[in-house]
This record gives sequence, C-alpha cells and structure tokens, in this order.
Amino acid sequence: MSNNILKGKRGIISGALDSNSIAWKVAEKAHAEGAIFTLTNAPIALRMGEIKKLAESTKSEVIPADATSVDELTVLFQKSQEVLGGKIDFVLHSIGMSPNIRKNIPYDALNYDFYAKSLDISAMSLHKMLAVAKKMDAINEWGSVVTLSYIAAQRAYPFYGDMADAKAMLESIVRSFGYHYGKAKKVRINSISQSPTKTTAGSGIKGFEDFYGYADSISPLGNASAESCADYCISLFSDYTKMVTMQNLYHDGGYSTTGVSMEVMEAKAAK
Ligand SMILES: NC(=O)c1ccc[n+]([C@@H]2O[C@H](COP(=O)([O-])OP(=O)(O)OC[C@H]3O[C@@H](n4cnc5c(N)ncnc54)[C@H](O)[C@@H]3O)[C@@H](O)[C@H]2O)c1
Repeated sequence: MSNNILKGKRGIISGALDSNSIAWKVAEKAHAEGAIFTLTNAPIALRMGEIKKLAESTKSEVIPADATSVDELTVLFQKSQEVLGGKIDFVLHSIGMSPNIRKNIPYDALNYDFYAKSLDISAMSLHKMLAVAKKMDAINEWGSVVTLSYIAAQRAYPFYGDMADAKAMLESIVRSFGYHYGKAKKVRINSISQSPTKTTAGSGIKGFEDFYGYADSISPLGNASAESCADYCISLFSDYTKMVTMQNLYHDGGYSTTGVSMEVMEAKAAK
C-alpha cells in the first residue's frame, strides 16, 4: 500500500531502536509514501548501530539527540532543516522509558529520582521538542506532530507503574500545546493510544506479555500491530487529517470501548 500521500513532506522520526520499534515501521512507511526525514535517538541507543540499516534503506540521516536535552533538540531541529532543505512538516515522538520499571520497583514504592526521569523522558520531552520547534519556527503551517500513548493514562493498569503517570502527562501536553501551537501556527498535535505491542519498550514491562493475550481476546479486531500503528501515523501526517488536533486517538482494535468479550467469559466459565 503506497499512494505517495507524504510526497514533498519533510519529517523528523524519533525512537527507532530496532526493527520491532513502532518508529521503525513509521520510517519505512513514510519513505514508501514519498517523505524525506531525519532519524533521531538517544546517543546511547545509537551505539547499538541497528538504526544505520534503517537510515540506509530510507536514505535518511541520523542525528543523535537525548530528548531530555533542550540543547540537543535545538541542534536536531537546526540540522534537520539543513539536511532536508526547509521547514519540517511532521514529527514522530516515539519515546518512553521508566528506570523504576527497568529496576522492578513497584508503584507504591517509587524511587523519586527515577520517577522524575520517567516523566522527563516519556512526557516532558514532548513539551521540550514542541517548545524548541515553536521558538525556532521550525514546523510549517498545518504540520503534524504525533506521539504514542497507552490507555493506562485513563485507567489503572498495575503493571504499568509510573509510565501511567507519564502517559497522562503526555496526553495533557498534547492538548495544552496543541492549543498554543494551533493558534499560533496551525500546527496540530495528537497522541495515538496504541494496543500492547511486542517491542523493546513493551516487553520490558513485567506482566505485559501476559496482558498482551488478554487485550487481544477483549478487542473485537484483536491487538493492533506496530505496522498498522505506523499506517495510522502516516494518515495523521498527511493532509487528509488536517483538522484533527489535540486528540488522544485509540488505535486498539476496539479494546477501549469493549466491556468484555465472549471469549473471556467462556474462558472464565470453563475454569
Ligand atoms: N510497545 C507497546 O506496547 C506500546 C503501547 C503503547 C504505547 N507505546 C509507546 O510507543 C513509544 C515507542 O515505543 P516502542 O514500543 O516502539 O518501543 P522501543 O523501545 O522500540 O522505543 C522506545 C524508544 O525510546 C527511545 N528513548 C529512550 N530514552 C530516550 C531519550 N532520553 N532520548 C531519546 N530517545 C529515547 C529508545 O531509545 C527507543 O528507541 C513509546 O512512547 C511507548 O511508550 C508502546
């Protein structure tokens, strides 16, 4: 499926760590749809070297940036405009990490330095990206910024720890900055609330693998794959969704509005 719907558009895609990453699929599809873009990730993630393969196959340049650093994000937007030859039309923020989750620290006993890091990396980094871009006037009118969220922003998911708080903050930034950037420059900002997906970030969460099957059996369409998430991102970068902004958009096969499925009831009854 390729209709050149991003032809002539310039973008920045963050968060492609390996071929399972949602951002990796977005980059492949954005390339297929005619966009040009830079790739970025934290310097430490780039050391793994996987991203070079993606850069080659999508003919893009890699610009390292720790998304918690305003200085590094400034360089990212400066260099991206130089490399791509003009202002940016779309940005993918696909960044999340919780040191508390990595170290198996439960929600009711959080390490507060780690908590601050989780919020900085997974939520505040979106604010920083947007503030840098707005100050530099680096995004074209009707440009589109997409970030990735999870339904734990709205409901309690015990295994999701402090990432739930980070996602709630992320979605709030989508609304608040969406207002300001929309008013000032007609730039639109949305979050996609994605199904559980087997990636490094997803699989790093204890209990997530078990939950994957449950979510799949609740959702009428099944869990949404990383690939289909990428398709949704592309549609939001395109001109077909120009009036969509400040939204949290569920991309979950119907999970978020299903109470219970017959499969789950039958499995329970069989016990
Ligand atoms: N996998 C899932 O089940 C799922 C579900 C809903 C939402 N999401 C969200 O999707 C996004 C992408 O995650 P993914 O599942 O593709 O996993 P992933 O591990 O492939 O991607 C996470 C990325 O964040 C990057 N990152 C971490 N710290 C950073 C920093 N300081 N600066 C810049 N980049 C940094 C990592 O290097 C990595 O590339 C995340 O926001 C995640 O929370 C994932």
